[in-house]
Amino acid sequence: MSGSRGGKNGSGLSRRELFTVASSTAAIAAASLAFPKEIHAVPLQEHKKHAPLEGFKYDIEASDGRVTAGGSAKEANVDEFPISESMAGVSMRLNPGGLRELHWHAIAAEWAFVLKGNVRTTVISPNGEAESADFGPGDVWYFPKGHGHALQCLGPDEAHFILVFDNGHFSEFGTFSITDWLGHTSPQVLSRNLNLPTSAFGSISRDEAYIIQGKVPPAVPEELRNRNLPENQSPHKFRLAATQPFVFPGGEERIVSSKEFPIQKTLTGVLQDLKPGALRELHWHPNGDEWQYYISGRSRVTIFGAHGRVATEEFSQGQIAFIKQGFGHFVEQVGDEPTRILILFNSPVYEEISLAGWFAANPPALIADNFGFSAEQVARLPKASRGILA
Ligand SMILES: [Fe+2]
Ligand SMILES: [Fe+2]
Repeated sequence: MSGSRGGKNGSGLSRRELFTVASSTAAIAAASLAFPKEIHAVPLQEHKKHAPLEGFKYDIEASDGRVTAGGSAKEANVDEFPISESMAGVSMRLNPGGLRELHWHAIAAEWAFVLKGNVRTTVISPNGEAESADFGPGDVWYFPKGHGHALQCLGPDEAHFILVFDNGHFSEFGTFSITDWLGHTSPQVLSRNLNLPTSAFGSISRDEAYIIQGKVPPAVPEELRNRNLPENQSPHKFRLAATQPFVFPGGEERIVSSKEFPIQKTLTGVLQDLKPGALRELHWHPNGDEWQYYISGRSRVTIFGAHGRVATEEFSQGQIAFIKQGFGHFVEQVGDEPTRILILFNSPVYEEISLAGWFAANPPALIADNFGFSAEQVARLPKASRGILA
């Protein structure tokens, strides 16, 4: 009989199995060389010093920001708020007619939640689809990384919105504005490309215009310059505040993940309302960092970063919290007014594990052994997640 029958050789192992064994043996040998035995003899903990937890609070609205004729912007990227590597925030205000000029973000997608006022956006996708849409309070937009866009305030009042980017470095390495480019390109090349005499480009500022004071656009949107562009097949707009909330005794939550808003492929947004005295239960998120902006009211956030490291900060209107992926945390509402929080996760799928839900997923004897609880005490523990407690 042939030793190769059924793919086996004389040793009874297939080629693939042999390769796996050989690789594992080589890996073990390499590992033994890299880590001499005496290192294994010393407990790891004695050598390891755990750095204190990073600051997780930033007062974005108290910063000076950037003010132009048409509006203003305050940023929280890694420069201002070092812990926020995965997400950056901007609090932007536009005067009626204020125009955040044509631009794109090379390394980040842009997510926005309108707090007040009305904004019209335009966006172009790489497949040529174009969209213009109007946004009011409670609405969300999402522009994928690199898609060209512009924002203009429709009036009659100032518009204020919170922008969140899925990269904490979005600003210094990644925002490309149209005046910055045109102002640094030869008028001869622009003339040839854009069908205007070179003199038309003489007055373009060499500095990025950023936010320009424009005219208030008409209530009924003007047609796009080319009326034959294909319509966008995946809307950039989602009406978050208008969705049905998940209701708990202590408050409610509205969630927008990629399930509800397919174009939003890198983030999940949550609008969370806490009643006075509420407790957002102990939990963690296996798949994402959590970025919070306090829209109104106050809360105390406590984080657990392992190795005995815990920290608590109190937050009020206009402040940001950042909780790293996997860190345990809970939120205690503070004060007589309800608290409203805008929350972003850097994952398109929402995931959480709560302490109460986890305890329910274990046998009573294990829980009793782990904490020294009596059978009666174990029986009183909740048997499901609690969300927001009253
Ligand atoms: Fe943008
Ligand atoms: Fe959380």
